[in-house]
Amino acid sequence: MQAPRDAVERAEALREEIARHNHAYYVLDAPTVPDAEYDRLFQDLLSLETQHPELVTPDSPTQRVGARPAPEFTQVTHRTPMLSLANAFGEEDVFNFDRRIREGLDCGEVEYAVEPKFDGLAISLTYREGRFILGATRGDGYSGEDVTGNLRTVRSIPLRLQACQGRQVPQFLEVRGEVLMLRHDFERMNERAREAGEKAFANPRNAAAGSVRQLDPRITARRPLRFFAYTLAGLEGQPMPATHAEVLDRLRGWGFPVAAERAVVRGAAGLLRYYDEIGSRRAALPYDIDGVVYKVNRLADQERLGYVSRAPRFAIAHKYQAQEELTEVLDIEVQVGRTGAITPVARLKPVFVGGVTVTNATLHNEDEVRRKDIRIGDTVIVRRAGDVIPEVVSALAEKRSGSEREFVMPQQCPVCGSRVMRLPDEAVARCTGGLYCAAQRKQAILHFASRRAMDIEGLGDKLVDQLVDQDLVKSAADLYRLDVATLAGLERMGEKSAQNVVDAIGKSKDTTLARLIFALGIRNVGEATAKDLARHFGSMEALMAAGVEELQRVRDVGPVVAESIAGFLAEAHNREVIARLEQAGVRGRAEARTAAVLQGLTFVLTGTLPTLTREEAGAMIEAAGGKVSSAVSKKTSYVVAGEETGSKLEKARALGIAVLDEDGLRRLLGK
Ligand code: IVH
Repeated sequence: MQAPRDAVERAEALREEIARHNHAYYVLDAPTVPDAEYDRLFQDLLSLETQHPELVTPDSPTQRVGARPAPEFTQVTHRTPMLSLANAFGEEDVFNFDRRIREGLDCGEVEYAVEPKFDGLAISLTYREGRFILGATRGDGYSGEDVTGNLRTVRSIPLRLQACQGRQVPQFLEVRGEVLMLRHDFERMNERAREAGEKAFANPRNAAAGSVRQLDPRITARRPLRFFAYTLAGLEGQPMPATHAEVLDRLRGWGFPVAAERAVVRGAAGLLRYYDEIGSRRAALPYDIDGVVYKVNRLADQERLGYVSRAPRFAIAHKYQAQEELTEVLDIEVQVGRTGAITPVARLKPVFVGGVTVTNATLHNEDEVRRKDIRIGDTVIVRRAGDVIPEVVSALAEKRSGSEREFVMPQQCPVCGSRVMRLPDEAVARCTGGLYCAAQRKQAILHFASRRAMDIEGLGDKLVDQLVDQDLVKSAADLYRLDVATLAGLERMGEKSAQNVVDAIGKSKDTTLARLIFALGIRNVGEATAKDLARHFGSMEALMAAGVEELQRVRDVGPVVAESIAGFLAEAHNREVIARLEQAGVRGRAEARTAAVLQGLTFVLTGTLPTLTREEAGAMIEAAGGKVSSAVSKKTSYVVAGEETGSKLEKARALGIAVLDEDGLRRLLGK
């Protein structure tokens, strides 16, 4: 069956819009829409394609969810081998490299294109007529595995090339680069795996490699993979650029992310300056790197220099020191978090790694300690990557003397003495003391005051420690009763800073409902869910009155989250805190209620409207939370009809669906 023309056009328009947002996010690093809006566009396309399966194309963003698993990967032979790079470990090696280049080219100072050496997995991507057709791993350099289905799920890999610099997309293109995980994505993924009692990955590199070489693309689709391009291995249908720097610009134009840190420098001195500069920024980069790569910039010169065995003469990788060091575990203690989670922490003999002295490292949970078999007294490898919390990678069992002790999870909370419990399906053990436990109370208050919650400046952990320890604050509501005199009497607090804190607390009363809900610290309610709840319910009273069923009507709220919200709100203590917050004047403004007036409603547009185009009307409906569909069905809430309507209007009448004209739509939107 042929899909109606407006469906074909709408699908194409959605695909283009999604591709544009993807490009803005992954290549330009400048998101153009909030995640929720992106998800909505995606869902619209998905439902359109479900209604009209003939609209699905292999390069549709919906295909990024992953196809069926394959029994095994097929081998592909690379058109040109995927080479490795020679390494430089010190200045001497860099001077020698530069000298060899100058001798080889018989010239003076050389221009180099320089960029980070990504610590991920090398892959090759092939495009014909602008469409992604093949993705392969490096393998042994001559042939690798066909991982096209997996790579299709990586959102930063364009499925369709963009035209750039006034040229058509090339007939044929082979791009090479690295698949990796950004550090913060890696941390979040591991955190979730641990919470679910699953195995965590040792580092982003292993996680990326494991995800690409997954036989089930649906699993790959759930992993936060990124791609960065670093070379052009084949181009047909248009001339090659003259330099590597131009290659990277062209790649970016086609829609591939490239390193933001790329540069062009001159001579060995320029190389070494770049090495130092990136070295000093290494810890703050969003991804792990293990060095920088220097490439002769002019491609004609690269050609002249050629190759030795399996590496190019025109390029070299200058490596950095590893971000892993050896040290000793002096003790394993536990920390109590906001939700009572008990986290084992290794106290380490101080060691300098990745630019800082590390004395503590998280061991995440009991199972991780067992799995890695880390004992008190062990010699261990500590890893620190960027601003990530230091981590114990593994213990060197061969260094044991026999006097090492195993970690035992305490039966009682070290802070409040309550029983420690671990539910059978949870990876973490928790203190059952709830807000009776001072550690949990402190964390709950710190969370309440945090920047993305009530944003109370100056309420840091030292102050919260004192407030809780001296029983001045038992719950967040008590904050609003603090006065300058009380605060000024505390350690490290003067009159002035006490006044500032009181002012900041006062200022926080004027906040949004979403922030207030997030600030309450309900388990499983992050910022995004808090926003959805605020939008759906519009007031704290409405939220408190909602049962589990109503809660599940909120977008992305499933049974687990609904239970945890209902459980929290059923607790007398929590209700009292909310009531006292309200008495203190903390209410939480409902924001942009109009934004969701059409939430849950589906519209079909037909005919020519007097002043709006169909796209404009559709955009207004979507901006108000409604959905636009192309076909009338029992699920349609309204048909918006203009002049010259056809079968849709008839069908709407037959099904008894309400029909609006443009004015009716505007009234519904409150305009
Ligand atoms: S250029 C002709 N540039 O390092 C050589 N490689 O040891 C093409 N790598 O397998 C490589 N970042 O996976 C190049 N910016 C970068 C790189 C990079 C990481 C990896 C690549 C290759 C290995 C070479």
